[in-house]
Amino acid sequence: MLNGKRILLIIAGGIAAYRSLDVIRRLRERGADVRCVLTKGGAQFVTPLSVAALSENKVYQDLFSLTDEAEMGHIRLSREADLVVVCPASADLLAKMANGLADDLASTALLATDKPVMVCPTMNVMMWQHPATQANMVTLEARGVLRVGPGAGNLACGEIGTGRLAEVMDIVAAIECFFAEQAGPKPLAGRHALVTSGPTWEAIDPVRYIGNRSSGKQGHAIAAALAGLGARTTLVSGPTGMTDPAGVDVVRIESARQMYDACHAALPADVAVCAAAVGDWRVEVDAQKKIKKGAGGPPALTLVENPDILASLGQLAANARPRLIIGFAAETGDVVAYARAKLERKGCDWIVANDVSPGTGTFGGDENTVHLVSADAVENWPRMRKDEVAGRLAARIAAARPNTTRSMSE
Ligand code: CTP
Repeated sequence: MLNGKRILLIIAGGIAAYRSLDVIRRLRERGADVRCVLTKGGAQFVTPLSVAALSENKVYQDLFSLTDEAEMGHIRLSREADLVVVCPASADLLAKMANGLADDLASTALLATDKPVMVCPTMNVMMWQHPATQANMVTLEARGVLRVGPGAGNLACGEIGTGRLAEVMDIVAAIECFFAEQAGPKPLAGRHALVTSGPTWEAIDPVRYIGNRSSGKQGHAIAAALAGLGARTTLVSGPTGMTDPAGVDVVRIESARQMYDACHAALPADVAVCAAAVGDWRVEVDAQKKIKKGAGGPPALTLVENPDILASLGQLAANARPRLIIGFAAETGDVVAYARAKLERKGCDWIVANDVSPGTGTFGGDENTVHLVSADAVENWPRMRKDEVAGRLAARIAAARPNTTRSMSE
């Protein structure tokens, strides 16, 4: 997707600048031509030699360099790129960009460019939250500047909060999404995504049921994000108080068995994301009339196991199985170890594992801390809003280019 794309990477000062080297490596692996501008601050953290070696290009540092100006002026440098990426973007450089300052090569190139600009901010949490930085970011985004991150977590300065540079693979995925969108149809156009969300209700009698505390926020946000990337999206949802995401086909069900049927009826799908908290058990005999209190005391309820929807998708024949199947693992301890076991047992490709212990506020809350577990890797994502988790997951799904339905119809 990045073959032949010209990316001007501006490396500003910040302890995370070393991670821009990995960004360069990943972009080069994908065939992009990467030219780098290193600010004075950036050069305190990474050397021009490493940047030049990895980008396989000359590194530009000086606004008033006679040789650079003769070979490639700062105007050309900024205009010859297809995309300008500022990674890391310091508070200072964001402020210069917002105010149109041009006192070094990086800020001059950013002012002179007529190309799209993407920033990957990183800084101390107080600096990020400062009204000045927030106002600068609002100004930049209103001008169409794209932003990746920052994430939340432990910061290099020892404080905890929002300010971490986005993960390298998320920056690369955002760049790939940008070019995919530019190339015409959205990256998941023509793909069908199936998402489950919310709890299930397992009826005991016409008025009572066994349910759980799932709010549906995460699953609904994922459906919205996939639809936003152009996927035809079917959301099979248990009872929630959520409004239907725009542009998504919503199938409302109550029980696990209804969810199972609705999911299989929605196939074929290229990607399936099972975010629902499906009830593991139902009452063997669902009373047709309300169970009354009587002399016999409380009724004994016999539970039987519900079908496992995620596992059933994983077991489909290769030509019917969604190319990418993603499950969730809600755990209250040993999160990654259980997720690994679940990945294998349920035959899925990725597990989004999260800790739902009391006190984490995940069930019903707006934030989530997840680990993306695949057969050969574990990524620990910082705590973020559920819609941010959804956006990041959707970008990763797009980058994986799942295409079951196309290969079936071809
Ligand atoms: N899942 C499903 N159908 C079920 C049970 C679970 O599709 N009958 C899916 C969930 O949507 C989720 C994943 O399986 O993507 C894991 O759910 P979880 O409740 O964490 O796992 P369980 O299978 O219930 O295993 P355990 O309770 O032993 O952890």
